[in-house]
Amino acid sequence: MPAETTTPLSAVVPDEAVAPLIRGVAVVRELTEAGGTLSLSGLERATGLARSTVDRITSTLARMGYVRLDGRDAVATPRLMELGNAYLAALRLPALLSPRADALADELDESVSLAVADRDGIRFIHQATRRRAMSLSFRIGDLLPAERTAPGPLFASEWTDAEWRAWRARRAADPQDLAFTAVPPRELPFPDGEFERRAEAAGRNGWALDDQLIEPGLVAVSVPVRDPRTARIACVANVVSHTSRHSATDLRDTLLPRLRATVAEMEHELATAPEPDPGPPPSDLASWIGASKHELGRDFIESLARGLTVLTAFGAGRAALTLTDVARATGLARATARRALITYEHLGLVRQQPESRTFTLTPRVLSLGFPPLSRTTLPRIAAPHLADLSARVKESTALAVLVSSGSSTEIQYTARAVSPRIMGVDIRVGTRLPASATSLGRVLLADTETSADLDRVRTQGYALLDEGWEDGLRTIAVPLRDRTGRVVAAVNVALHAAGRTERECVEEILPELRRTATRIEEELHAAGHFTRVPLF
Ligand code: PHB
Repeated sequence: MPAETTTPLSAVVPDEAVAPLIRGVAVVRELTEAGGTLSLSGLERATGLARSTVDRITSTLARMGYVRLDGRDAVATPRLMELGNAYLAALRLPALLSPRADALADELDESVSLAVADRDGIRFIHQATRRRAMSLSFRIGDLLPAERTAPGPLFASEWTDAEWRAWRARRAADPQDLAFTAVPPRELPFPDGEFERRAEAAGRNGWALDDQLIEPGLVAVSVPVRDPRTARIACVANVVSHTSRHSATDLRDTLLPRLRATVAEMEHELATAPEPDPGPPPSDLASWIGASKHELGRDFIESLARGLTVLTAFGAGRAALTLTDVARATGLARATARRALITYEHLGLVRQQPESRTFTLTPRVLSLGFPPLSRTTLPRIAAPHLADLSARVKESTALAVLVSSGSSTEIQYTARAVSPRIMGVDIRVGTRLPASATSLGRVLLADTETSADLDRVRTQGYALLDEGWEDGLRTIAVPLRDRTGRVVAAVNVALHAAGRTERECVEEILPELRRTATRIEEELHAAGHFTRVPLF
């Protein structure tokens, strides 16, 4: 069964919906379900689309930087997280509440998560994971059936009759939860009236438990975080543990008071946080689309590209947009923006507020790439870019981070790509070297330390060095910065001094190296907006 198709908003496709956008979204969803990588023929099978259509969609997505074509595979890139980031930024809850969720996880040494309601399911918007190897751990964007979780009955305590009917219809149509690919299929039949009773108790108590509803061993206690303006549940905070440490009732008796104290702070934060500054909307996307069409012709589907840019019009301070706002932010014609919004509403990705005529993104936007990508690491982000760079300059390239070992500071190689040359420089991932003896180390040190040498590295933005630990080894390195501007890693090109003069390194290699660093940084920044990207 394809993912998340059991509860369509309406079975009938509206006349004005944009068919290529519907197909493009289907491709992105299937790629996500497959864990971020799927062959083109796999996409063809999963979506039921013709191969030529899959090819045109993936080449459009590749042009947008959302997928990479790697031989026969389409691979989702961290840039795709822009879509989920637009939802999470507009929602504001992760930015406002995740520091407190993280602090509670540290204090309790247990996992803490935040979940929102997604129709009759729950979807995670934050994870502070301390999970030991013993049980499943969910990712940001994963969707779970409400009745198999602790937050579910809290949300259900606010359901209307129509929402209960939709839930019953879904249970009848999919008794094993096959549409919820993040959880194992349900084995036991569902006892009549049980969830209704749990929802009623959750509403009365203001907390709820999950006693191994998803899998043996996994237990959780949950408390709702209420929106101060509406008094309705904005999200639910969960403490998650394992029966080897806490039974469900023990979790309630020992940890619920601390969870409640954290939730009180979260609600205070929501009540007092100032409205975010909208900042500039993404600019002039429409003209970029025109240029891509000109260049790629049939292999670029303009209506898909236009449609996807509509999602990125949303963000912090831009949570509820009118049609005019969307058209202005994207540079699209009103009629085009309107048809994209109608399409998204049909797909359950956008909701129109009837009172204000504004549009908002729904949690389902997280199903467009987010869960698998939220687990990426810097070496994984960098690898294809290092390989590209190596192929272009025909030299070896590497990524490294700073590590301290005792009194000395060292670099550790975390990713590399070897040159096709026979005599290429060969340093294994994991190798450590004294930081000051390498160009990688010098750009890393230059971010925080001063010396005449390092000052020069900082101002010129690169380090060029003949590294004495290997004969004739010349390297040039540039820094990689995170979203805050801090240098977190460095990339280099290593070559034999006989091959290029220092000047040739600066004139020929440095521009390529900088382009590579920029590409890695763009992906790192998209991935690091709402998740912590491990550096190695
Ligand atoms: C989780 O955060 O992984 C989680 C939360 C609540 C549950 C189960 C799992 O009921």
